[in-house]
Formats: sequence, structure tokens, C-alpha cells
Amino acid sequence: MAFSEAFYINNRKKLTANLKANSVVIVHSNDEMPRNGDQYFPFRQNSDLLYLCGIEQEKSILLLFPDHPVKKNREMLFILKPDQKLETYYGKKLNQEEAKRISGVQNIQYLESYESILDEMLSYAKCIYLNSNDYPKFKPDVASRDLRFAIKMKQAYPTHQYERLQPLITDLRLKKHHEEIEAMKKACTITAKAFDRILKFTAPGLKEYQVEAEIQHAFLSEGAKGAAYPPIVASGINACTLHYIERKSECKDGELLLMDFGAEYDYYAADCTRTIPVNGKFTPRQKEYYNAVLRVQREITQHFVVGNTIEKINKEVIRLMEKELLNLGLITEQQIKEAGSAKPLVLKYLVHGIAHFIGLDVHDVGSRFVKLEAGMVLTCEPGLYIPGEKTGIRIENDILITQEGPVNLMEEIPVEVEEIEKLMRRS
Ligand code: GLY
Ligand code: MN
Ligand code: MN
Repeated sequence: MAFSEAFYINNRKKLTANLKANSVVIVHSNDEMPRNGDQYFPFRQNSDLLYLCGIEQEKSILLLFPDHPVKKNREMLFILKPDQKLETYYGKKLNQEEAKRISGVQNIQYLESYESILDEMLSYAKCIYLNSNDYPKFKPDVASRDLRFAIKMKQAYPTHQYERLQPLITDLRLKKHHEEIEAMKKACTITAKAFDRILKFTAPGLKEYQVEAEIQHAFLSEGAKGAAYPPIVASGINACTLHYIERKSECKDGELLLMDFGAEYDYYAADCTRTIPVNGKFTPRQKEYYNAVLRVQREITQHFVVGNTIEKINKEVIRLMEKELLNLGLITEQQIKEAGSAKPLVLKYLVHGIAHFIGLDVHDVGSRFVKLEAGMVLTCEPGLYIPGEKTGIRIENDILITQEGPVNLMEEIPVEVEEIEKLMRRS
């Protein structure tokens, strides 16, 4: 991580200020997920652990006990003991001095002493804050390390009080610090470079995966960690599949190409969508659709202000979209009335919510009911999907909330029809 230890010290300080007296906090690394044979899927550190100590290494555990009578035991970090054989295969692991320098935690221990130290600590503690990955409607089959640990702890220490850590960390992670915003801006700049490359490159006859290759090339060569999520490169009808990842089709003359792609820089994500004509020129009808979405995006961005919520923004966008769909002749007043308000007709054409928080994760912590505050960053991503016309259009920017109003972090990424067409003529 490129952040200084002061960032992590400050995050831990803010977290511990909100704990009950005599509490212990425990946060684990993510698992290394097994693939087949002796292989793992690429490892990605737990975002909460990154936020609190900046340690990228697997199997690390952070233990906080701010009221511990012995000062050096108030913050402890447990790491793998460096092992010559392990390092021969997988490269250098952190030593205690390095872990201390990154995290600002003074007391670094090896994992082998974790259980005995924890057991002794818990004899002085009253309450245990356990971490969890809570995301609405997301229930994976595999339990995280934090969750498995929580189940074990409740059995081993049934008389302690237990609290959820996640709401406290969510509150902190929602409001980005200066360093985080800078990392996100850098992720957006790299994403802009990838888009510029695509505008030069795209032409009829290419496969979607060849377009993705250009995106990945730009991300890596510009110093990003990679893509913040698997890029969506969807031509024609494929754009109507929201999380289309197959990317095997040919990009055809006359069709649109929707690309949802974002770089990850210093663990912070960008999340961008642009829709372009494969042959470099929008048809008159495509242009009408595209500009309708763009107008909606411009108007709804003005609602990304302190005090508003994603819930209310989603309601407002239905009103804006309804007006556009009427003008385009896709729906009629009569049909709107018949559909009623429980499930507005617009949702047939705009099939997803138009905003989510973004940060260490592309779909970052924070619910649609959170009141927006300065420092929060959200996406703004209205779309229009018409499978019958093999057309899917989405335009997505990342918006920083400030006291002075919304700031588009993707201002430098071309979005106007004329700009896109002009840049595509260079190829
Ligand atoms: N890239 C996924 C999304 O836009 O939410
Ligand atoms: Mn996206
Ligand atoms: Mn998004």
C-alpha cells in the first residue's frame, strides 16, 4: 500500500473511539480460495483489514483491545512466520519490522502465539467485536474466515458479550479521506487512458475479448493493480445482460458496444461505463437513445448532494427516465397508468439501480438508505435496455459528494456523441 502508517493509525483510533468499554476487536484476512490441484484463485485481502492496517499478506490477524491495562497489548498484529521454503516458492513474506512500518502497529507477533495470547486477553475483556461481510441479498455458499471464526468463538467463549463490528467500519469506510480520494482519482485517470485506447482500436470484426485485452493492457501498463472487477465488454444484444462476462462475440458493424470497466489503484476502484458505436458513428436512432440516457445522467447527478439517499435518487431517476421514454415513443401515458406505481413501467427499460458506493470495493459498503455526506463516492449509472432492438446503453461515472455539490471524477472520460465519434475517427 502506498499510504503512510498515519492513515491506518488514524483509522484504528476512530474505530476504537466508538467501542464499548473493555472490548476486543478481531479482524481476519480473507481466505486463499482453493481452485483445483494445488492452485488458489488470486488472493485479495479483506478490505476491512486493509483499511485498519494496510497489510496485504494472507493469514494476518488484527487484534485491538484499547482498554488493556498494558499499553503494548492494545494493538497487536499477527503474521505468518517467514519460512525459507515458503519464500522460495512464493517470494518474500513480511518480517516484524516491515509489518510494523506499514501498519503503525508496534506489537507484531507470529501466528503461532495467536491462540494463547487471545485466550489470555479474553479473560480481561467483556465484549468481543466480530467482523463480517454483510451485503444485502449476497449470501455466498462459502463462509468467510471471519464468519467461521465468529461461530467458533461463540462456542468457545459463550459468556462474553458479542457485537457486530461491520456497522462501525462501514461508517468509517463510507467517508473517504484525502489519500483515498487521490487513489480513486488515479484509478479514474488510468481508466480514462484505457478508454482512449479503445476509441482508437475498436472496429467491426473484432472480438469482444480483443477489446478487453486493450483495456487490461492499458490498466497494467499504466501501473494499476489490474481491473477492479472483471470488465464487461458487450456488443449488440449482449449489452442487455447486465453482468455479461462471456465476451466471445464479434463486434458487428452498426451495433453498439457497451463497456463497463474500471482500474484498481492502491486497492481503490474506478467503475466506468461507456457505450460506443462499433463502426465509429451512431445511427440517428442510437444517438437519440444515447442522448436520452446522457441527459438523465446529467440531471440526476445534480441530486448527488449532502443529505440525499440512493433510495431517493433511484425514485427520482424513474421520473426523469419516464419523460425520456415518452419522448422516444417507447411508452405511452396510457401504458404508464396501466402499469401503476408499484412496479413503474420504466423498470422494463432501466432494469437496475443507478448508484452504489465505491471505494476499496467496486460495490463498497453502505446501504441505499445512508444519508449522503461530503467525502462519500458513488457511481451514477443510468441505462436503457431494449433487447428487441439489440440495444443496451449505460453511462457510468464516479461522483464525489462535497459540501459544494457533486464532483464528477470521470470528467476527463469522453461522453458526448460528437467527442466519441471524433476520437474514433483517429483509428
Ligand atoms: N461494474 C459493476 C457495476 O457497475 O455496478
Ligand atoms: Mn460498472
Ligand atoms: Mn457500478
